[in-house]
Amino acid sequence: MEPLSIPEEFLGEVVASHERIQTVVKRLAKEIFYSIDYVGKVPVLLCLREGAAPFHRDLIHELNKLSFDFESAWLKTRHYYRGTEGTGEVNIFSYEGPELAGRLVIIVEDIIDSSATIVRVCDYLDEEKVARRNICTFLFKEHPENMEWRNTGLNGYRHLPEVRHVGLFIEPLFVVGYGLDYREFGRNDNQIMLLTPAGQAWVDQQIAQRNSGG
Ligand code: IMP
Ligand code: MG
Repeated sequence: MEPLSIPEEFLGEVVASHERIQTVVKRLAKEIFYSIDYVGKVPVLLCLREGAAPFHRDLIHELNKLSFDFESAWLKTRHYYRGTEGTGEVNIFSYEGPELAGRLVIIVEDIIDSSATIVRVCDYLDEEKVARRNICTFLFKEHPENMEWRNTGLNGYRHLPEVRHVGLFIEPLFVVGYGLDYREFGRNDNQIMLLTPAGQAWVDQQIAQRNSGG
């Protein structure tokens, strides 16, 4: 299938350029490499597909340069959105990777918005009896609720797990690029940009046309 891109005129401010993304990934790789959490362990780097695929790929590339020992795994997740608003309904699909029981897992996610996805994935990993799960997200949206999440010392606030590694904190606006999509559009851009309301309308129209056979 050809990449579904959004014309530039429908995209807003650049939230992270390609260069900035690469710098942040390098920093996260070093943070993981130097973290005491992983010394003497072989963590499983769990990619939440599809969104986190480019981040996971780039992170692996940097960790390999540091000769960091890990294994890769993939889990397909889907948070159903109504427009640009999450519904809170998250599904987990196919898992691909090693047996997870007893392992230290680093969850590699593209973005934390409401936290619904990450909470669902943590529950899944608990059911799989992992030894420990650390969260590594490229973007973290600063909602008032998410700020409170951090301010409460991350101790059991709404039972939310600690977010161990964060690439960038951003405004709670809808973004596309670097794996992030709006209805499968905009995923393949190598920078992260705001989606304008006009861009959203344009994508909705493309999909409506396609569905009506036009
Ligand atoms: P949460 O479950 O509300 O935390 O949202 C996380 C999931 O929703 C991510 O895995 C993304 O797939 C998707 N998502 C959240 N915010 C955005 C966005 O701004 N752009 C694209 N996808 C997003
Ligand atoms: Mg995702």
